[in-house]
Amino acid sequence: MTDVLEAGSAPAAQDSTQGSTRDRREDGAATWWRQAVVYQVYPRSFADADGDGLGDLAGVTAHVPHLARLGVDAVWLSPFYPSQLADGGYDVDDHRAVDPRLGTLEQFDEMVAALHGAGIKVVVDIVPNHSSDQHRWFREALAAAPGSPERDRYVFARGRGERGELPPSDWTAVFGGPAWEHVGDGEWYLHMFAPEQPDWNWANREVRDDFLRTLRFWADRGVDGFRVDVAHALAKDMSLPLPTAAELAADDLPDGAHRLTDRDEVHEIYREWRELFDSYDPPRTAVAEAWVPAHRRARYASPEGLGQAFNFDLLQADPDAATFRRIVDDNLRLARESGASSTWVLSNHDVVRHATRYALPAGTDLRTWLLSGGTDPAPDLARGLRLARAATAFVLALPGSAYLYQGEELGLPEVADLPADVLQDPTWVRSAGEDKGRDGCRVPLPWSAAAPALGFSSGTPHLPQPERFAGLAADVQEGDPSSTLSFYREALAVRRRLRAEEELTWVDGTGDGVVAFTRPGGWTCVTNLGDEGVELPGGTVVLTSGPLDGRTLPPATTAWLVTGTAAR
Ligand code: GLC
Repeated sequence: MTDVLEAGSAPAAQDSTQGSTRDRREDGAATWWRQAVVYQVYPRSFADADGDGLGDLAGVTAHVPHLARLGVDAVWLSPFYPSQLADGGYDVDDHRAVDPRLGTLEQFDEMVAALHGAGIKVVVDIVPNHSSDQHRWFREALAAAPGSPERDRYVFARGRGERGELPPSDWTAVFGGPAWEHVGDGEWYLHMFAPEQPDWNWANREVRDDFLRTLRFWADRGVDGFRVDVAHALAKDMSLPLPTAAELAADDLPDGAHRLTDRDEVHEIYREWRELFDSYDPPRTAVAEAWVPAHRRARYASPEGLGQAFNFDLLQADPDAATFRRIVDDNLRLARESGASSTWVLSNHDVVRHATRYALPAGTDLRTWLLSGGTDPAPDLARGLRLARAATAFVLALPGSAYLYQGEELGLPEVADLPADVLQDPTWVRSAGEDKGRDGCRVPLPWSAAAPALGFSSGTPHLPQPERFAGLAADVQEGDPSSTLSFYREALAVRRRLRAEEELTWVDGTGDGVVAFTRPGGWTCVTNLGDEGVELPGGTVVLTSGPLDGRTLPPATTAWLVTGTAAR
């Protein structure tokens, strides 16, 4: 039996007032994102042009040829704004500036021009849930009195106890520790993440207007889209009495009833943003990082909202054929409901790299594995990389957009043995050493095996690179047709050639552990996640993630085949 899913190739009809917006979205220039390959740059670890050990914007510009040769459609830059790096740049001092250690606005413009010149769109990260504690408005808030307009831009509350000496509630922050910080006059401020990241008060009109100004600032500089950090958490209900942490965590809360996340009012904010995005031609795009139940994701991804939302399901799943198929089914359905295209993500700057996840036995607790320095259980890195390439080829054949994370095109593994004294992630300290954090996927890239700091920097990289990165350097992989870099380039080139409508038809009867589907135009993708080799169906093989054995697809391998006109 086969079933067909049409993954929302055209947005669902809305009321007539939406007509002009819809027409523009159906035009090619406005829909580039629907099936784009977006490459995430974590700027501080990508390439350092000025030798201070921290990657910078000029480093990105210098490597545009790498990105162009790779064949990506867009680059998403994690924050490059001024920051004290309490959370890797997600603690933003000023949203409309470049961190002087990373460059200048002129260098930003040069980078955008170089990327655009290579046909690559630019997406920047917007962090609207919190600022840093060095933001001008937060410093003004601290200097001002309780109840002042300055304090109202953030979430301040009076503490409990006679003098406000106790926190307003017992809530804990995502990175560990209490979610409230005392400011010495009976008031406390809320920080869902690190104490250096005070939460904005989105009920305040000045905050809303300031973010509209920020979005316009970057859109006017030619930015094509925005990745919206923690998009689910902006709207909060702080009315008294505040619930306890246990009440907040209750799993029987109705949709939209949580005090801090996924409240329905958050979409009023994004409707305003959408108006701004659509005032540009082509409209600016956005993708939500929204950690919400799957059935609530469509609201963020709607064309009246941000337009697209991350689906992190594959990133959290074991490489298992039935699981992969279920995840794809669910997400194509959700994308169709929202009128967006789906997003596929295997790695990003917040998780253990997929080449390493797949090197570990299914169900391994990654937090304790990291604490063991990456030794217990011992990873099978060769198998992990084989599976990672197979999963990447699977994802790249799906309808929708694929988000790649810097270094995965080199097959980089997680660096799990970083010594404690170099760790930067606030989770390490905030969890009192219980959670090693995310530095292991943020180690600077190896560009050149023989160069100092593997070509990343002429100085000392801000996180040490392991010696084993030398063998994975881009220049080592350059001329090797079997390298991971060659595989990614080939996959992206073939994907571009075969690009088809957003439809998928499952192929059944391919055997245990195998997941296979076809796309319009005669493109078939077969992924073998089982233990035995399987016979390939008919067609010309145009890509494999690893060597074939005649017409047999070995375990941990994906093949793309074409039939009919596509084969020519
Ligand atoms: C997002 C980012 C993560 C950051 C957090 C707080 O989840 O991806 O890196 O720590 O938001 O801004």
